[in-house]
Amino acid sequence: MEDLYKEGKLRAAAVANFTAEQLQFLLDNASVAPAVDQIRCNPAIRNRETVDFCKSNGILPMAHSPMNFSLAAMKNAPEVAAEYKALAGRIGERYGKSWGQVLLRWDIQHGICAIPKSHSPERQRQNIDIFDFELSPEEMAMLY
Ligand SMILES: NC(=O)c1ccc[n+]([C@@H]2O[C@H](COP(=O)([O-])OP(=O)(O)OC[C@H]3O[C@@H](n4cnc5c(N)ncnc54)[C@H](OP(=O)(O)O)[C@@H]3O)[C@@H](O)[C@H]2O)c1
Repeated sequence: MEDLYKEGKLRAAAVANFTAEQLQFLLDNASVAPAVDQIRCNPAIRNRETVDFCKSNGILPMAHSPMNFSLAAMKNAPEVAAEYKALAGRIGERYGKSWGQVLLRWDIQHGICAIPKSHSPERQRQNIDIFDFELSPEEMAMLY
């Protein structure tokens, strides 16, 4: 990938599911820094250490499975999911937005690029309609 990048065939090199430690190894040993680290990041698994490392080192944290937290491999995920959806839903009512839009807005305001997937055209529209409202600092803190 480094060679292809230097030949101008790639605009960027990126990785997925790298931990902070693995990213540090790349930064120390590779000649091209990754532009993106795509990691699991949702209300059940925030992956905070990796997100913070990315942001401190000019790497874009990209959240895969951002909505998929009820299936997360955590014993308390069903409770986390229900509580989060209820809370985000109440906050969303203030802005005319769904819990999913509040979740994605939280990601954006935290400098995280989320890549949700939906088979529903209506939810696909919702998932990009998140740039006309802003969560307050108090709401951001309530959601994490
Ligand atoms: N790099 C990796 O290791 C890795 C691992 C996993 C996934 N990914 C990538 O991450 C992306 C998303 O992954 P994912 O499908 O696992 O997770 P996801 O997008 O977080 O979750 C998809 C689920 O969320 C629902 N959903 C989507 N938008 C919604 C909304 N606004 N309100 C309510 N529910 C909503 C979908 O249902 P409906 O379809 O019914 O709307 C579907 O059940 C994909 O591109 C995938 O390839 C990468």
